[in-house]
Amino acid sequence: MIELTRKLTEAWGPSGYEHHVRQLIQEEVAELADEMQVDPLGNLICKVGKGDTRIMIAAHMDEIGLMATYVEPKSGYLRFANIGGLLHTSLLGNRVRFEDGTIGVIGVHDAFGVSRTSVPELDSFYIDVSDGANGSVQPGSPGAFAYTMEVRGTRLVGKAMDDRIGCVVAIETMRKLKKKAKNEVYFVFTVQEEVGLRGARPAAYNVNPDVAIALDVTATGDEIKNDKMAVKLGGGAAIKLHDPGLVVPPAVRDWMIERAEKDGIAYQRELLTKGTTDASGIQMARAGVPSGCISIPCRFIHTTSETVDTRDVQACIDLLTGLVKNPAKL
Ligand code: ZN
Ligand code: CO
Repeated sequence: MIELTRKLTEAWGPSGYEHHVRQLIQEEVAELADEMQVDPLGNLICKVGKGDTRIMIAAHMDEIGLMATYVEPKSGYLRFANIGGLLHTSLLGNRVRFEDGTIGVIGVHDAFGVSRTSVPELDSFYIDVSDGANGSVQPGSPGAFAYTMEVRGTRLVGKAMDDRIGCVVAIETMRKLKKKAKNEVYFVFTVQEEVGLRGARPAAYNVNPDVAIALDVTATGDEIKNDKMAVKLGGGAAIKLHDPGLVVPPAVRDWMIERAEKDGIAYQRELLTKGTTDASGIQMARAGVPSGCISIPCRFIHTTSETVDTRDVQACIDLLTGLVKNPAKL
């Protein structure tokens, strides 16, 4: 699980440019799925098992990033726009990688002056690609944070845990299933979640599931001065009850909680007050899809050091495996 997480989090794939990540996942799951297809937007859909209930599992392949918008004529510095929810507090000094491998460093106007005590707008930031870019980085070039993953005890620290760790949960679940599930399960690795759940919706239309589960990171209440929240790192799989885009139907909630209790899996109830997941897009596909979410608790979301706990990741894998392996009656 650790080496797979390293491989996937270090891969490059801002929203709309998930092809490298998809390639890596396709190689991992080729032997684990009965059928595999890539849809017109780039979602990877993998079918496993047989049964009366059709279950869609969604984990997004994309990560937040940026796109070069303008080259300053004299200096050559790049201005950029965000792809997804870039945090301005996470930018200065960070490295970004463009698709051709060019590494850029993010600077800010007046770093030791006004930018030291207040958070600047995005147009105060710029990227230095001097003396190395071979000219292929230009307005329209997408970039993503460039960082390696680190292991600290049970903790994994890296960029793009959101949501490559969800992809890891899906892949490891497929590995445990060995193609045996008493439901028709569709593992969908989605595109463009960070820019508005744009991949999951059409994928749900295509799959037409009876019930759906998104796998994504969630915030924790154990950071200083965060919103009050009962979820903590190392506390087990987080079973979502509510977020600003989704009210989990009681039948879906109970299905998950009963499974966790039966299988003796550590879990916690999640109420998230900021953000949402692919599940909120899927629930509104076609005539409506009852949807829930198994969340991986994560500190420092949308930074280069998103931090998860391997015990929580394992709990999510075990819970998901139990849910899709046994006949789901909802
Ligand atoms: Zn996410
Ligand atoms: Co995100």
